[in-house]
Amino acid sequence: GQDMPSVPSEESDREAIAAAAAMLRSGGTVAFPTETVYGLGADARNTPAVEAVFAAKGRPSDNPLIVHIARREELEGLVLEVHPVASALMDAFWPGPLTLVLPVRPGVLSPLVTAGLDTVGVRMPGHPVALALLRAAECPVAAPSANRSGRPSPTLAAHVMEDLAGYIGGVLDGGAAGVGLESTVVQVQPDGTVAVLRPGGITAEQLAAVAGTGAVAPAPALALADAAAGHSGGQSPATPPQVSGGGTGGAAAQAAGGSSPAPRAPGMKYTHYAPRGALGIVRGSSPQRVAETAASLLQAAQREGGITGLLLFEEHRALYPADPAACVVSLGSLASPEEAARSLYAALRRFDEAGATYILAEACPVTGLGAAIMNRLMKAAGEAVIDAG
Ligand code: TXA
Ligand code: MG
Repeated sequence: GQDMPSVPSEESDREAIAAAAAMLRSGGTVAFPTETVYGLGADARNTPAVEAVFAAKGRPSDNPLIVHIARREELEGLVLEVHPVASALMDAFWPGPLTLVLPVRPGVLSPLVTAGLDTVGVRMPGHPVALALLRAAECPVAAPSANRSGRPSPTLAAHVMEDLAGYIGGVLDGGAAGVGLESTVVQVQPDGTVAVLRPGGITAEQLAAVAGTGAVAPAPALALADAAAGHSGGQSPATPPQVSGGGTGGAAAQAAGGSSPAPRAPGMKYTHYAPRGALGIVRGSSPQRVAETAASLLQAAQREGGITGLLLFEEHRALYPADPAACVVSLGSLASPEEAARSLYAALRRFDEAGATYILAEACPVTGLGAAIMNRLMKAAGEAVIDAG
C-alpha cells in the first residue's frame, strides 16, 4: 500500500484539515479524531467512497454507518422527522457522544450507509478537529470507528495506522480520544421512550434527566442480539473449566422469542472484538473474593504454560500477590470510570501485543459509564463470566 500521511493537527491547523476535507469531497477516505474514538470518514452521499470504508474495515455490508454533521440545520436534509424528545436530546447532548436513529430522507445518502434500513444514525461530534473537518468538507460524513472489523476501536492515531495503513487516504492526528468508548446510540419511540441501542459516552442517567425518569430502556431486541452474538475468540481457555460462556447463542434466542426479530442496532449482533487469548470477567461479592479467585486461576493458567493477562482497578492491586500475571494493566481508579473508559481499548490492544493467552478482567459496577465499559468487556469476553462467589 501507499504511504499514509499522518497529519498532526489542532483546530488551528487549517491546512491539514483543508487537505482532509478535500480528500473527502473527492471521494477519498480519511480517519479523524472524535471525542469518542477515531472515525473513518467518507462522503455519505458517495457510494464508491462509502464502499471504500466498508472494504478498508472489512465490515459486513449489513451493518449501517453513523452520519456525522457539524450543524443542526443539516439534519433537515437527511431525515424526515424528529420526535420532540429526540430534539430535546440533541439540545442537551450535541455536539457530543450521542447518536440518534431517525427516519431517513430517501434519495440523499448512499444506500450503503443505511444498509437498506429506513432509518439513519446521526451524530454531531464534539471534537474540535472533527467539527472543523465536517464544516470544511461541507458534506454529511459517514464514519464508523476507524479499526479493522474485530479489533478494538482506535483511541489514538497510531491505532488507526496499526489497523488501516495502506487502506485509507490518511489520518488526522488529534491525540488521544477523550471518552474512549463509542457514542451512545438511541432511538426515540413514538411514545417518547428512549431505547438505548448501544450504551456509550452519554449515560442512561443523563438521558433520563432529559427524557424523564422511566423513559429510558435498553432495547429488548438488543439484549436478544447480544445473547446470540456468540464469541469469535476461537481458543477455549487454557485453564480452567470455570470460564464458560459464549454458548448461550441460538438456544437463548429461540427460548426468548421464537423467531428472532431483527436487531435494531444491527452492529450489535457482531462480536466486535475478542482478544486472541481467552478472556473471562471475574465478579464476586467483594474485591477480595474477586482477587483471590483471579489470582489462583491465573496461577493455574501460568503453570500450564499460558501467557497471562490481568485487567484490574488500581485500588485492588494490593489484593493480589506480586506479579499476578505476565501482563497487568490497570484501568485506573474505580472512582473514575471516565479514566477506565478512556484506557479500555488501548489496554485490550496491549494484551494482544503481549501475546496473552489467558486474560482475566475485573468487573465494574454497571452504573453511569460503567454500563458502557461492561458492555464492551462482555462483548470482548464473549459473555464469559466467572463468579467468585
Ligand atoms: O462514537 C461513535 O459512534 C464512533 C465515532 C467515529 O463517531 N462511530 C462508531 O461507528 O462507533 P460504528 O460504525 O463503529 O458503530 C455504529 C453503530 C453500529 O452498532 C450500527 O449498527 C449502529 O451504530 N447503527 C448505525 N445506523 C443505525 C441505524 N440506522 N439503526 C440502528 N443502528 C444503527
Ligand atoms: Mg465500531
